[in-house]
Formats: sequence, structure tokens, C-alpha cells
Amino acid sequence: MASIDARMANMFSDISLPYFLTISGSILISFVFVSCLFNDKARSISKFCWACFLKPFLSKDGCGDQQNNLEMFYKTQANVYDSTREILLNGRERALKLAIAHLKKKKDLVWIDIGGGTGSNIEKMDSFFPISENFTAVYLIDLSPSLCEVAKKRCQTNNWKNVHIICSDASDFKINHACADLITFSYSLSMIPTYYSAIDHAASFLDKDAIISCVDFGVQSSDTSIGRINTLGGLVNRHIPWILRNFWKIWFECDRVFLDPSRRDYLEYKFGTVKSLNLYNVTLGFIPYYIWIGVSQTEESENLMHRINALATESPYLAPVDQNKNDIVPKSKAFEAALKNFEKGLPYPSIFYQQEVWRIFFDEINPQYEQFKNQYIYAFTWEDPREDARILNLSSEDTVLAITSAGDNLLSYACLPDPPRRIHGVDLNPCQNHLTELKLAALRSLTQEEVWKMFGMGKIENFEELLITKLSPHLSSNAFQFWLAKGQKTFNIYGNGLYDTGSTRWALRLVKYLFKLTGSSDDVEELCQAKTLKEQRSIWDQKIKPILFNRFIGRLLVGNPIFLWKALGVPVNQASMIGGSILSYIIGTLDPVIDRSLISTDNYFYYLTLMGHYRKDNCPDYVSKKGYKLLSKSENSPLDRIRLHTDTLNDVFARLSKKRLTVAIIMDHMDWFDPKGVDAINEIKSLHNSLTDNGRVLLRSASVFPWYIKKFEQNGFKCEAVGVRTPGKAIDRINMYASTWVCTKISGHRK
Ligand SMILES: C[S@@+](CC[C@H](N)C(=O)[O-])C[C@H]1O[C@@H](n2cnc3c(N)ncnc32)[C@H](O)[C@@H]1O
Ligand SMILES: *[C@@H]1O[C@H](CO)[C@@H](O)[C@H](O)[C@H]1NC(C)=O
Ligand SMILES: *[C@@H]1O[C@H](CO)[C@@H](O)[C@H](O)[C@H]1NC(C)=O
Ligand SMILES: *[C@@H]1O[C@H](CO)[C@@H](O)[C@H](O)[C@H]1NC(C)=O
Repeated sequence: MASIDARMANMFSDISLPYFLTISGSILISFVFVSCLFNDKARSISKFCWACFLKPFLSKDGCGDQQNNLEMFYKTQANVYDSTREILLNGRERALKLAIAHLKKKKDLVWIDIGGGTGSNIEKMDSFFPISENFTAVYLIDLSPSLCEVAKKRCQTNNWKNVHIICSDASDFKINHACADLITFSYSLSMIPTYYSAIDHAASFLDKDAIISCVDFGVQSSDTSIGRINTLGGLVNRHIPWILRNFWKIWFECDRVFLDPSRRDYLEYKFGTVKSLNLYNVTLGFIPYYIWIGVSQTEESENLMHRINALATESPYLAPVDQNKNDIVPKSKAFEAALKNFEKGLPYPSIFYQQEVWRIFFDEINPQYEQFKNQYIYAFTWEDPREDARILNLSSEDTVLAITSAGDNLLSYACLPDPPRRIHGVDLNPCQNHLTELKLAALRSLTQEEVWKMFGMGKIENFEELLITKLSPHLSSNAFQFWLAKGQKTFNIYGNGLYDTGSTRWALRLVKYLFKLTGSSDDVEELCQAKTLKEQRSIWDQKIKPILFNRFIGRLLVGNPIFLWKALGVPVNQASMIGGSILSYIIGTLDPVIDRSLISTDNYFYYLTLMGHYRKDNCPDYVSKKGYKLLSKSENSPLDRIRLHTDTLNDVFARLSKKRLTVAIIMDHMDWFDPKGVDAINEIKSLHNSLTDNGRVLLRSASVFPWYIKKFEQNGFKCEAVGVRTPGKAIDRINMYASTWVCTKISGHRK
């Protein structure tokens, strides 16, 4: 049994006392406030308050059938229903838009709105997706005759000939169609006592590619999701603290609205979860509600088979070609999760019901993810993909594995004339993959101009609308939740934009601050517009360098390991490999870059760092017009070759069938290891297992001769330094690393 302490901690987890005290009063106060503001609405509000808050306490008659009960509740309110619910029932329009966005079929639709009340949802739908033109039939099912009356009048007013109002119970209504493309529950499931049979009945109408959606009040805690974690598709904000959970549950029960978790649980058991959102509205006293979108679990369409095939086998296991009877064949995590759910009669994990196959299944509650605190570190990728392509001569013969970071380089490989047949991105931080997914989804569904605004400038006007109506079908539930919570703020045109997020923002901020402080912001702009290398060099030498390489500034801002870690993502082990003074390392980095490439048109890395955004002719491939054209193709887009793994490299290697990879691009990742530990050796051995004969590892290091090269050579690799930084000469457009290496697996070597 849990101790009293644990219970108390649970009760107050995530909320502070003052915050709680404001909750109970706030809803009443907001209604009073609203009624004072809109005098014409005051009458309807007071009627609503009477019916909702006072009447249930004064006249309690629990018996009778549900229809009588409903009528007692709604009869006095039928006419004021819509104006009052507009305030209380949040998220209805979002849920409709989300559902339409996920429908593959977009015309001649059959829609059943269960517990549709006065038909206000039909009106909402009509405003962005015309009822008369796009639907064959719309059925509104509701048990309350007085609300059905209002709905009928609404049909007449709007002249909808294809809308049918059916006054019937949700569990046994009949319609003239065998199946529907869209079924919605909008704040009705919580009122239906026999919700299980209502859901079963709805399921019997659900067509193959149909969508079912539900928006409703509901409370859940992390305890109520135990055992079903891997089907849920999103736990963010799912846990509602004890006090709120019970307060709202009891409060609503007086109106015969039931917030118990079992309704949503049953949906998530009965259908495959496509999107899942846990929400609350601050103004309404944090009443918890959710939006959920699902599909038929028994969808035996090619689609599901295709996704299972892609996801379970490529995560990344594929039947090994060199299977030896004595080998224990590792299964992919996705395969194991799917099998487990299948055996228990549960739907597959949410990732399996997503439209795209990019994101490979990952276990959301893996404690290894907690260190990232639901944030990405890199908003852009700080390695030069042009050099990678030149060194590796990648072609469609290659299967590449690379660290995801911000995904820019994965997309650059996909833009090559003959792109690798498969590009695996690996990152332990789920948010790096969320960011990459957003880029992929944008290329799939937005115009080039929109992609440019989002990722070239880092800002766009209507992010949320785009996210819900266009991007959402191409995102996993997890990535969608992440961006719904953070995207509006990130891409806000009045904010600082995408490149002022992640830990990399500190580098950009510092540069900006430094030049502001020294009054040289104009000189920086001039540098970023230089048209020739000669001009660039002279601005640099005369105006910028004296300021930047002033010893005082260098000591103050750069000679500090904490700063390095924060701003550039350089951990301690790596910092110690740099050797010598950090200031001289930075001079050695930047000075030669000035002679190598024009910042204005050929070095988007430094352009971004100095200006905070890209230029149309100076940006990563996927942001450019040319890249967009290649990647946004509707048939055979190179995007289809990308897979995103949310895992450690070693975990991916461990489950990768042997000899699958031809190239692994591991960036400077090995610099992070402790030379005295076993991590490096383990990784080298796993790399050796996963690579084909003559397979190659490309790596970069802050050291001219990294200590782990010897370990590669002891374990079956031949290593070659393909770039070593010498004073005054840049090895690539970034020139941050002291050396670049290719380690080739020696064929026939057996360890
Ligand atoms: C809060 S209202 C929501 C109405 C509408 N969907 C909206 O979003 O504005 C809940 C509706 O569910 C209906 N309802 C409750 N129990 C029902 C049942 N067993 N069968 C059909 N409808 C029911 C009520 O009559 C009411 O119209
Ligand atoms: C919260 O509810 C109020 C009243 O319905 C609404 O005006 C407001 O837009 C809602 N806020 C959010 C963030 O949905
Ligand atoms: C839905 O109706 C609108 C308005 O007539 C129309 O422009 C649109 O093409 C229709 N959608 C589809 C998918 O047919
Ligand atoms: C690059 O790869 C292609 C195809 O694999 C090959 O034909 C070509 O010779 C290679 N070029 C170099 C420079 O290695």
C-alpha cells in the first residue's frame, strides 16, 4: 500500500496550492464575468448556470430512463444551448478539421455525428468544408427531442437537403447507409451511459479507410495508462493531478457527465490510435479534455500491411541473409511491441496507424529520454553534407545510417542525384526526430514558399492552422503533440523564430549580443553580403577580427567549458580533446573559412549563425527551390527512403541484421566517449557487425588524431584521414573539426 506521504505527493504533484485555490472559483467567476460583459447573453448564461450548477443540487431524481433525464436537463436550455456551449466545449472545430485532414477520401462522404445535439458541429463543418457539396449524407443522432428540434430548424435555415436528424439512442440507431467515412463524438461520449455499446455500434459502421474522432472532457492519470502505454500514441499532459481529477469528475457528475477514464480507454482499445491530444483550457479552470482520432483496428487494407512491413522490419531488423543456425536472431523493437499487442488482442502501437512510415516505433516512456526534458538541442545541423557526399561518393547502392541531429543532412543525402536506397537517421532525443518529422511533413504537404518561411526564415503566420489541416496526417501522434504545444510559439512571426530555439540558440544569441555590444552589427551585415572572397577577407580583417579575437572577449566568453557545452553542444570529454587554448582553436576554425567560401552565397552555416536566418540562394538543400522540387514529388519521392530511429546507435546496431549498412556517418559522436571506458570499443564492434564488407564509417573529431582510431584499427578497420585541418586551411565550409576520417571495414576480417 502506498504511504500517506506518497499519496499526498501524488495529490499535489504538478500543481501548487495557490493554483489549485484559483481553480474552483474561476469557472463561476468567468461565467459571471462573461455575463456582465455581454448583457444580451446574460439571460442565456443564467439559464445555463441554473440548469448546470443549481438545479442538479436542488432537484435530484435519479431514476427514470435516460431520455427523460436528458429532457429535464435540456428542455429549458435548448434555445440557449449553442451560445453557452461555445464557451465551455473547447476544441470542437479543431477536432473536425483534424478528422477531415486525415480522411483520404474527400468527397461523397457519409458522416455520422453521434450525440450531435443542436447540429452546431454541422454548421462548424460547413464553414470550412461545405456540407451540401462534399457529403452524400450527414446523420445527426441525438436522444433529446428538444435539441433535435433545434437541429431540424438549423437544417431548414441552411437548406441542407442531405442532413438527416435522427432522434434515437446512440447504441441502436439505424441509418440508410451500410457504412460511414467519418464518425464523430463531440462532448457526447461522456454523457452516454452505455458508452461501450454506443462505441461498438459506431464501430459496426466504420468503413475501411474511415476516421472516427472524439473530443470530450475526461481525466486520466499515469496510473490509468499502465499496461497500455504502447498503444496510446502520446502521454504528454495525460496525467491530471489528483485534486483536479476528482474535483472535475464530481462536479460534472451532478450534470450526469462522466469524466471517468474508461470511455477513452475503450476507444483506444477498440480502434487504432492515429492522434491523441491531452488538453486543458486555463480560462476555464483547467477542465481537462482530449481530442482523439482513430481508425478501424481490423483495417486489413494494404496500407496497414505496408506499414507493418516497413516499420516492424526496418526498425531496423530485416531477415538476415547470412543466417546461421547458432545465431540468436534479434527482432526489432517494433516487431516485439506489435506481437505483444497482437497476442493480447490490443490494437498495434499508434505509430503503426500513421500515414507515413518514416518514424520507427519507440517506447515513449524509455527513461533514457528524460535527460532531454522534451526539447531538442540542435535546431540546425552543423556538419557539411557536401563534403560527406564528395568523400563517400554515395549512390543508390548505399544504405546509409547517420545521426539525425536536425535532419538537414539526411535530407541533403536524399537530394543527391542518385540518393542512397535507404537513409536511417538515429537520435536518442525524441525531439530531434520530431523536428525532422516536421521537415519531412512540410515537404510532403506545404508549398515551397511555406517551407521557405518555416525553415528558411524560421517564422510563419498561421502555423497552427497549417499543422492541423495540412501537416498532421504526415506526422506521428507524438510529433504532432509536440508541435501543437510548441509550434505556435516557435514559428510566431513576432517572436525570434525557429533558430532561436534549442540549445544552439545560445550560439546565435551570443554572436548577436557580442556584435551589438561592440557596435559592429552593421559590419557583420556587410560581411554577409560580400560578393567576392577578397571583399569578404578585407571586411573580416579590418572590422570583425579585431573585435572577435580580442583576448578579453575570448577569455570571458569562450574559455569557459559551461559556455561551450551550452552554446555549441560540446561536452567535457570532447572539450578536453581539443587541446591547447580554446581561443586559438576558434581562430583556427574561423579565419580559414573566410578564404574558402563566400558567407553570403555559399556558406549557409555561418550565414545562419550571423544573421539568424537563411537566404534563398544560401540554405540547406531541403529549403531550396531545387531541393523542394526533388523531395516533394508525389511519386517515388526520396523522402520515402528515410527512416527515423529514436534510440542509441548501439541499440540500433544490436538489432540490425548483419551486414546491412554500407555507410555509417557518426559525426563527432565518438569524441563524447570516455577514453578509459568500453563504450567506444562496443560501438566499433557493433559497427563492424552491421557494415557490409568494405563498408565505411565517416567520422569527425575535434582532435587531429583521435584516440579511438587505434581501436578501429585493432578491430578490423582500415582508417584514413581524409581531411586534417592545418593552420590557415579549411577542410570544409564549417571547419569546426580538426580532422575527418573514413574507416573501412576490411573484408574477411573475423573477430
Ligand atoms: C454536451 S452535448 C454535445 C452536443 C454536440 N455534439 C456539441 O458538440 O455541441 C451532449 C449530447 O449528447 C446527447 N446524448 C446523451 N446521451 C445520448 C444517447 N444515449 N444517445 C444519443 N445522444 C445522447 C445529448 O442529448 C446531447 O445533445
Ligand atoms: C479557452 O476558452 C475560452 C472560452 O471558451 C476561449 O475563448 C479561449 O479561446 C480558450 N483558449 C484556448 C487556448 O483554447
Ligand atoms: C468541397 O466543397 C468545396 C466548396 O464547393 C469545393 O471547393 C471542394 O472542392 C469540395 N471538396 C472536395 C474534396 O470535393
Ligand atoms: C562513384 O560511384 C559511382 C557509382 O557507384 C562509380 O561509377 C564512380 O566511379 C565513383 N566515383 C568515384 C570518384 O569513386
